[in-house]
Amino acid sequence: MADEPLVLGIETSCDETGVGVVRGTTLLADVVASSVDDHARYGGVVPEIASRAHLEAMVPTIERALARAGVRATDLDGIAVTAGPGLAGALLVGVSAAKAYAYALDKPLYGVNHLASHICVDQLEHGRLPEPTMALLVSGGHSSLLLAPDITTDVRPLGATIDDAAGEAFDKVARVLGLGFPGGPAIDRRARDGDPGAIAFPRGLTGPRDAPFDFSFSGLKTAVARWVEAQRRAGVEVPVADVAASFQEAVTDVLTRKAVRACREQGVDHLMIGGGVAANTRLRAMAEERCAAAGITLRVPRPGLCTDNGAMVAALGAEMVARNRPASALDLPADSSLPVTEPLVPAGEPG
Ligand code: KG4
Ligand code: ZN
Repeated sequence: MADEPLVLGIETSCDETGVGVVRGTTLLADVVASSVDDHARYGGVVPEIASRAHLEAMVPTIERALARAGVRATDLDGIAVTAGPGLAGALLVGVSAAKAYAYALDKPLYGVNHLASHICVDQLEHGRLPEPTMALLVSGGHSSLLLAPDITTDVRPLGATIDDAAGEAFDKVARVLGLGFPGGPAIDRRARDGDPGAIAFPRGLTGPRDAPFDFSFSGLKTAVARWVEAQRRAGVEVPVADVAASFQEAVTDVLTRKAVRACREQGVDHLMIGGGVAANTRLRAMAEERCAAAGITLRVPRPGLCTDNGAMVAALGAEMVARNRPASALDLPADSSLPVTEPLVPAGEPG
């Protein structure tokens, strides 16, 4: 629709320089320049390298996204940017660029929450989110169950990881197995040739007295490392595919079990899964099965929209414009620990 808001979104919270252009709930362009290869030899994201890569990629990525969308910067109704949470230096590059464009073009600026964006991106694939939406957010930095009565103003955490994020567990286990970085896609691939029932790895926080919607993956990670270590000490070849499949099964079992339970207890009949780990094929299949059995409609964006990108930021920005939310102040801060309960950094917040 030509009358829907046209918004540019900028994402630089980690190692992806993402710029997206969205009109309402329609995706027009999604360009991602990743510095992931620069981090691979360190086995994890190096913040300083990420910041420098963002700085180099920022303007060309914005220009490419505008060109691909076939729109001019002057046509935009707003500029959205990830204000947090994320790496402070990395966020700062995106926030500074967004401020410069917003100021130069005289457009409203929306400093939005990375986690709410991971949820809102699904609108580009499956249309408007139902209200409330139950969301399972699983990424390299976060694992949370969130109830969102209104994605632009009201996001409520029901539970979260008490130690490692799900993606972090994938990355660490991949390192133990020598599968490289990032670990999620590598484990996903290797697990296809493995037996998910080969090794009974622990399911954290699933006891009757445990917090029903919190997660813990550090015990699982340690269990995998110990198991692999024991094999190596005994001189036995490590069955990498079986370990990958069994580990992946333990993670996805806990995630889907808790998400379905949250929907049931809150009386919500939709589940959205977002964040980088939502690209996992086993998680998608298991969630599909369990949601169908529980009468829950599952919404998972395609893998490219689950990992960090600019379109998700533009999607949330467009929703802010559509609902007439007040724009952020031009001196909005990049907030590395922006709480999940704050989808939009409000106007007039001290810089
Ligand atoms: O959302 P994201 O791109 O960045 C953060 O905000 O953290 O998530 C990155 C995380 C990494 O830990 C990566 O290993 C994981 O998502 N990931 C996957 C898959 N693809 C990416 N984990 C499991 N299976 C995958 N296919
Ligand atoms: Zn993310």
